[in-house]
Amino acid sequence: MLSFSLVTAAYIGSTILFILSLGGLSNPETARRGNWFGVAGMTIAVVATVFGPRVQTFGLPFIIVAMAAGGAIGLYAAKKVQMTQMPELVALMHSLVGLAACAVGFASYIDNSMTFEGTEKSIHEFEIYLGILIGAVTFSGSVIAFGKLSGKIDGKPLLLPARHWINLSGLLVVICAGYLFLHYEGWIAVLALLVMTALALAFGVHMVMAIGGADMPVVVSMLNSYSGWAAAATGFMLSNDLLIVTGALVGSSGAILSYIMCRAMNRGFISVIAGGFGGGTAPAAGGEAPQGEVIAISAQETAELLKEARNVVIIPGYGMAVAQAQHTVYDITQKLRAKGVNVRFAIHPVAGRMPGHMNVLLAEAKVPYDIVLEMDEINDDLPTTDIVMVIGANDIVNPGAQDDPSSPIAGMPVLEAWKAKISIVMKRSMASGYAGVDNPLFYKENNRMLFGDAKKMLEDVLKDIE
Ligand code: TAP
Repeated sequence: MLSFSLVTAAYIGSTILFILSLGGLSNPETARRGNWFGVAGMTIAVVATVFGPRVQTFGLPFIIVAMAAGGAIGLYAAKKVQMTQMPELVALMHSLVGLAACAVGFASYIDNSMTFEGTEKSIHEFEIYLGILIGAVTFSGSVIAFGKLSGKIDGKPLLLPARHWINLSGLLVVICAGYLFLHYEGWIAVLALLVMTALALAFGVHMVMAIGGADMPVVVSMLNSYSGWAAAATGFMLSNDLLIVTGALVGSSGAILSYIMCRAMNRGFISVIAGGFGGGTAPAAGGEAPQGEVIAISAQETAELLKEARNVVIIPGYGMAVAQAQHTVYDITQKLRAKGVNVRFAIHPVAGRMPGHMNVLLAEAKVPYDIVLEMDEINDDLPTTDIVMVIGANDIVNPGAQDDPSSPIAGMPVLEAWKAKISIVMKRSMASGYAGVDNPLFYKENNRMLFGDAKKMLEDVLKDIE
């Protein structure tokens, strides 16, 4: 068994490794190293906790069996999950953090091995109440987010009449129940705790159900933040400093990510944090019908245009991930660069289905980082670009976000593909994207449509370039 001071030292080491991990993850070049820091920090934390003074020897076999089972499920899920299903998996993982916080909360309440008096007792009970509250909201909200992202629950926002009043009265009941929990003993306290838990679960469901499909990315990162605060609350209940620090790191980085995504989608941060938005952002059911004539182009013609161009910008989207076309895209890039064409990539902050989705795919295909640019860095260059090639992207290049105030994605910053001399959109059909809206880009005079599976079409283009 490790001594108390050794465990404290190990926790400090883990905290430093977690901070280094987050720092590393902020840049694709250092992300791998950042991941290893995280793995090392977590290993030290688990070993120090399991073999620390707070675990009695008879408990070890239970812990080892639980870890083996949990580890095996985690390993299986990580191996099986497709890159495009990652947000669902993340949502499911957040729900487990919430569930754990609730379980620890109830266990701490029932546990009478430690007795607290006076202020200490009030603080301990407040920690339990808050931990269960955040945990329950995170749990039920994440389960609904998982259902929506995986298509098991309808993505349309469910807007109950007077929903803000429902939320407000729920909040008042939670405050009153909190007062009863802290000031009474016995069945009144238990009842208050159970009422609050039921309300928190209902609030989590209501909050995420009210959010429209197009706003789900923000919700996932917001739940990520909530799960961090739930972990921090668990840390307070268990008097575990490492859990408090780690929870606060996850909670605040999730909040910062939510803020960045809100800006990328032009949504109000406060309204997202408070939940219950999405009325004006509802995705059209089943997508809108196409409204205009489009000009189709063949792979061969595309190859000719690309060979003649001097500046090409590639805008990848969710379809490139589905088709797994990133390697072929890079083969084309290399061929064109060898011919002296300036090829660059433009990445929208919410392209694909998770933050950094496109960066991960392009890094996997070994595309050099210096030709991969963020939206703000490249948008001004698009008017002087000969060809913008849009590969399986839709919402992120929709001019309606700028020109049509009634569009569900109105105000969302977009990559201005239509400003290039020619834009070529590669997709299988005229189907709409995630937000379910038609895209006026397709009908512009300088736009061409290359219909087909992105990988198949790009392979044809590659053959014709050679
Ligand atoms: P989308 O707007 O969803 O458009 C993707 C397009 O790819 C579709 O129109 C689809 O058209 C096409 N496609 C699908 N499979 C294809 C294939 N095999 N080959 C060629 N094309 C294919 O994607 P986007 O432009 O990347 O925008 C992302 C959207 O997802 C935004 O609305 C964003 O808010 C939302 N979202 C983002 C995130 C994050 S954090 N990134 C998370 C959840 C949701 P066809 O069916 O006609 O081929």
